[in-house]
Amino acid sequence: MTQTKSGKAMTTEKRRERNSAAISPEMKNSEFHRFFVDELKDIYWAEKHLAKSLPKMQRASNSEDLAAQKAEHYEIATYGTLHAFAEQMGHADVAKLLQQTLDNEKATDLALTKIAESFVNEQAMAE
Ligand SMILES: [Fe+2]
Repeated sequence: MTQTKSGKAMTTEKRRERNSAAISPEMKNSEFHRFFVDELKDIYWAEKHLAKSLPKMQRASNSEDLAAQKAEHYEIATYGTLHAFAEQMGHADVAKLLQQTLDNEKATDLALTKIAESFVNEQAMAE
């Protein structure tokens, strides 16, 4: 249940009012908004599939690390675009969440780069 600032439980009616105030009917039906929602669905689908395949990739070889990093780059590009769209549409709360996700993806990308670099160094030491 959603609580208001005064501590009272927010009714479904009030919540509906608040949500519809954030997205006008024109915005909801706009091509831009539909594209934004389609993109969100797309990345959600990709994330679910990656969650399943990444553990398998991790158990496999170095080239699979590269595959994982390629996926990260795709995610970074997508979340970056979605974040810009959300800001453009004035969805500050959505933009904030997308920025957090983008930051997480960038951190993962950096971690994968470090793994790849240490692998290259190990290979060089072994030669
Ligand atoms: Fe990711």
